[in-house]
Amino acid sequence: MSVWFAALYPWLKSAHIVAVVAWMAGLLYLPRLFVYHAMAPIDSDLSQTFKIMERRLLHGIMTPAMLATLGFGLLLAGTPGVVDWHRGWIWAKLALVAALLVYQAALARWRRAFAAERNRHSPRFFRMVNELPTLALIAIVVLVVVKPF
Ligand code: HEM
Repeated sequence: MSVWFAALYPWLKSAHIVAVVAWMAGLLYLPRLFVYHAMAPIDSDLSQTFKIMERRLLHGIMTPAMLATLGFGLLLAGTPGVVDWHRGWIWAKLALVAALLVYQAALARWRRAFAAERNRHSPRFFRMVNELPTLALIAIVVLVVVKPF
């Protein structure tokens, strides 16, 4: 069975990778902003500036990049012959993608708390959660490129 977008495979993959890079940039940078925001005095000018940066990063870059990553990823997965669904790597990858979606939802929730000046987490907490997307990224790249199982 052939689908109309099969001929676009290399273009879809390029678009997928570009979207992944933009999304990951946000997933790594937003918790970094939270580290510094958590040190800023409540209601200070600095805190107001962080609020604007955080809102624009989440809504202007991360959400569109996330949707583009998922959309192009699903088209790639729907292209005949690209994924052997009997292999394990694609399922492990999808599980990690689900974890990144949960992570983004948590970031959105913490951003809303900062916007309302009700953050209760320490800079150290955000430093630690900042490591999670890095680990997911390494694992996903190895899964899609090496396809170890
Ligand atoms: C619903 C979500 C996603 C789906 C269904 C999906 C699916 C796919 C598929 C089918 C391919 C082509 C594999 C191949 O040509 O052998 C691919 C490539 C790729 N994906 Fe995803 N993906 C998703 C999300 C992600 C995320 C979140 C990342 C990184 C954080 C990612 C990173 C990559 C990379 C780096 C490639 C290129 C691998 C290569 O060179 O073959 N994907 N994806």
